[in-house]
Amino acid sequence: MKPILFDIDHLSHCYADGTIALRNLSLTIKQGKKIALLGNNGAGKSTLFLHLNGILQPTNGTIRFKGKEVAYDRKSLLSLRKQVGIVFQDPDSQLFSASVIQDISFGPQNLGLLKEEVLRKVEWAMEQTETTRFRDKPTHFLSLGQKKRVAIAGVLAMDPEVIILDEPTAGLDSYFSKQIMKVLDHIQKQGKTIILSTHDVNLAYQWADEIIVMHDGEILCHGDPVTVFERDKLIKKAHLDKPWVMETFQTLVQEKFLASSQTIPQSKEELFQKIRYSIEKIPYSS
Ligand SMILES: Nc1ncnc2c1ncn2[C@@H]1O[C@H](COP(=O)(O)OP(=O)(O)O)[C@@H](O)[C@H]1O
Ligand SMILES: [Mg+2]
Repeated sequence: MKPILFDIDHLSHCYADGTIALRNLSLTIKQGKKIALLGNNGAGKSTLFLHLNGILQPTNGTIRFKGKEVAYDRKSLLSLRKQVGIVFQDPDSQLFSASVIQDISFGPQNLGLLKEEVLRKVEWAMEQTETTRFRDKPTHFLSLGQKKRVAIAGVLAMDPEVIILDEPTAGLDSYFSKQIMKVLDHIQKQGKTIILSTHDVNLAYQWADEIIVMHDGEILCHGDPVTVFERDKLIKKAHLDKPWVMETFQTLVQEKFLASSQTIPQSKEELFQKIRYSIEKIPYSS
């Protein structure tokens, strides 16, 4: 059993204007997992994330990190934020230095690391996000996708234990989306915990160990991708589509092109393999 990192108990959040963004939400997050948070606009994903590194405080309920209730004094917050890095949805709220390299260096510099260590982490983070070639460029001249990659590099360079990313692939083209997901996989294999929100059900289905579905400030369901997406009614309620791999597989089973006794594939490679196997077994006749 992996240790529990976050233990969220009956968390509610009400913004100053009276909007209730989180309603009595309970959730545990284990170490070393790849977790995708899904939910339509306004479901409360960003609000939940902002609680996980202490930017927002609960109106009600508690959040424990590694067994200790999150405290909001300067020292406790500093320690929490060293361990839990967050990449905001909007990179403009993250980037503030004159140049790309200054921006990415800011976090690790503030951790009190040696200069060479800072440089090593920054170079690595730039390589991973392919931002090295505009290292000296002013951040405000970058495109949205480039800014997002720089914001991700800034958090990677701090090397936190938990990386939270609010819609990291929104605004990125397919090449860079895949590239970012590859980087996240690589980091998770080193023992880090990755929590991201996304609108991309296909990405979440193939990538995640666990999926959390939010709707109107509540958690509708939390489980492995196949179990979550098998719940048709719930997926509809959350205004989500079914991942195409699962939908294609289920249609092929329904139309008796594939046997129903098989496990549901989680990637296109697995689906293609099942189709190939099924075709090879059926002798061609006509
Ligand atoms: N600063 C704020 N003040 C008031 N209401 C807010 C604020 N930020 C978000 N909200 C509201 O809280 C709800 C949840 O928003 P959010 O967490 O941003 O959802 P998501 O990230 O899932 O789109 C929405 O109804 C949104 O309008
Ligand atoms: Mg959001």
